[in-house]
Order: sequence, then C-alpha cells, then structure tokens
Amino acid sequence: MEKRTILIVDDEEIIRKTLSIHLTKGNYSVIQSAGGSGIFEELKNNNYELVISDIRMPEVNGLQILEYVKKNYADIPVLILTGLMDLNITIEAMKMGAFDFLIKPITKEHLLNTVQNALHSRDLLIQNKKLEKENLEYRTILENKVEERTEQLNKKTVELENAYETLQKMNFQMVKVLAEAIEAKDKYTRGHCDRMRLICLKIGELLGISEEEKTDLEFAAVLHDLGKIGIADSILNKIDTLSENEFDMIKEHSLIGEKIISEISTFKNVSMIIKHHHENYDGSGYPGGLKGSHIPLLSRIIAVADVFDALTSNRPYRESLSIESAISEIKNISGTKLDPSIVQLLISNREYFYKNSYTKLKPNQPQKYSGTEEKNKLLKKSLCLHAYGNSL
Ligand SMILES: [Fe+2]
Repeated sequence: MEKRTILIVDDEEIIRKTLSIHLTKGNYSVIQSAGGSGIFEELKNNNYELVISDIRMPEVNGLQILEYVKKNYADIPVLILTGLMDLNITIEAMKMGAFDFLIKPITKEHLLNTVQNALHSRDLLIQNKKLEKENLEYRTILENKVEERTEQLNKKTVELENAYETLQKMNFQMVKVLAEAIEAKDKYTRGHCDRMRLICLKIGELLGISEEEKTDLEFAAVLHDLGKIGIADSILNKIDTLSENEFDMIKEHSLIGEKIISEISTFKNVSMIIKHHHENYDGSGYPGGLKGSHIPLLSRIIAVADVFDALTSNRPYRESLSIESAISEIKNISGTKLDPSIVQLLISNREYFYKNSYTKLKPNQPQKYSGTEEKNKLLKKSLCLHAYGNSL
C-alpha cells in the first residue's frame, strides 16, 4: 500500500526530526520544511495529504500557512503545533479551520492517533465530495433523459393529435356521405340530418353534456335513421295506413342502423344511441321497450329533436307547422313519447330555435301552418306513425 505523505513545517530542526521519526515509524512518508518565505512554493509543489505546522515562526507564521492551505487546498487537514502559552492563538487557529492541535511536548502515540484521525476525516471528505459529484452527474444524466423522453413524448402527442384530427375529419366525411345516402331515400327529408345535428347539439349544450358525449351525439343525430337504407322505399314513403307487418319492417331500421354503425370500432356509443332513438318515455317504444332514464339520454334528445324537426318540415301530406304549433303538438306527447324535461328545455329556449341558423336550412319553406281539417287528420296520423317508428 502506498505511503501517505505528510508535510511538517517547523523552524526548529529538532522538532521536525522528532516528528519525522515517529511518523516514519508509523509508516508515513514525511517532507520537512523550515518554513520562511519559500513555504508557499513548497505548499504548491508537493503532493502531501496532511500539514503539521508550528504556530510561532519567523517571516511566515502557522496561521498564515493555515489560511493559505484552507484557501487553496480545502480538503487537506492542518494540525497546529502549539505550546501551553499559545492558547489564544490555538483557539484562533481552530476557528480558521485547523483540524486539531498538538501541544508540545508531543508523544508518539498522541501524534499518530491525531494524524490517523485527520487523514480519516480527509478520506471521508473526499469520498463525500466524490459521491456528491457522482450524484450530480447522475442527476444531470437523469434530467437529460427525462428532457429527451419528454421531447419524444411531446412529439408523439402532436403526431397522435394530428392522426386523431385526420381520423375525425375522415369520420365526418364518411358520416356526410352516409347522411346523403339516407336523404337520397326521401327528398322531403332533405336537410333533416344537418338540422338534427344542430338541434341536438343545442339541446346537449343546454343539458351540459361532456365534450365526448357531444361528439357521439353529433354523429348519432346525423346517422339516426341510417337503417332506413335497408327498408324498401315503397314502405318508407307510403302515405296510406301501414299494415302491422309493414310497421314491423320499419321498426327494423333502428337495429339495422345500430348493426351498420357498430362495425366501426370508434362508434360503439353512437350505435347504442341509434339503437334506442325510437324508445318512448313511457316504455311503449322499440326495440327495447325501455322506459324513462333507462333510455340513453342522447337517444332521448334525438327523439325530441326528430319530432320537432319533422313537425316544422314539409311532408308530402302536409305543410310545415310554425314553431309555436310544433311545440304545442310536442307538449301533447311529452311524458308519453318524449322525455318531459327535454321537452321543457326545448320550450324554454324556443327563442334560440326561432333565431338560429338551422331554420335557414329549410329554404322556401312556409313557416306558418295553414291547416285544414284534412291536413290535421294527416298530421295526427303522422304522429301516430312516429310512435311505431315511421318518420314524420
Ligand atoms: Fe328513426
């Protein structure tokens, strides 16, 4: 094992030699210095791990040496050699950072113990600094890694957001195509899907539904009657009374729509809303005969909007009703066919439906109902058909 080097600074040669003998026997390597003006050069040039310095010396005293070492080599301990008369200076030295002091005359045992303690303390100090440095390096590496990962994640998030946006655009395009397919079945329902979207979204907003629900509602509102593409035109557009068998066939459109839409993995909720859009609040609807709050909320919204838009749109057998007349008709089926709380919401906010843009989606359409006895009969019939699933 390599010997540890100790620098002894004392102007008295006898002291230097005595200490040197003890330390050499203790297996240390010793450098001796008489001090003086050259001491600072010696302190600079030699590779030592401990300084033992006398206090009282001509030219450069022990406190100056201590100050220099502490300032330039903070982890090298300094032991002060002192006499009993130098107590105040010794206290001063300790305050300045001396590791310990040795009172002359010095015994070999006390010297070696004190040196061993000083070097052990130095070792701990260096080890501690090394750990601190390693810790700092590790922390820096970790912070860099976290920063790098965060940057990668942010990049991925942007990519995902863009992909989601593209997917949403594609969904809207697909839904638009499907809506046109639905409306192609019946020229009198032209614009119905778009108006349904606006009416439903407004009702949803008034009910305070979440953003996710709004998206589902928007798609379901446009696609609610998609299943009609599976129903024969002759039945769908029939004005005369439908047979029971024909009613049953029309009723199938909820399930056909649900089946088509459920094939799209992101539209599972939408398919359930479509499935139940002809449930009646009193449980007399289809396909599940669900009642009240057991009917999905978004399906109940669609049911109200569907009746409202149908009543305010032209049909082959009647002209559209004014909004007030439509509301009056809706009141008659509130609580039986329709959810009364949603109907109430529609009534309370009728101003919005008067003023807002969805009415502009019905160009050249009379807003005033010029009802005759015959038309009234047809209207009542259409409301009755709705209960079984026919469009108004
Ligand atoms: Fe329907």
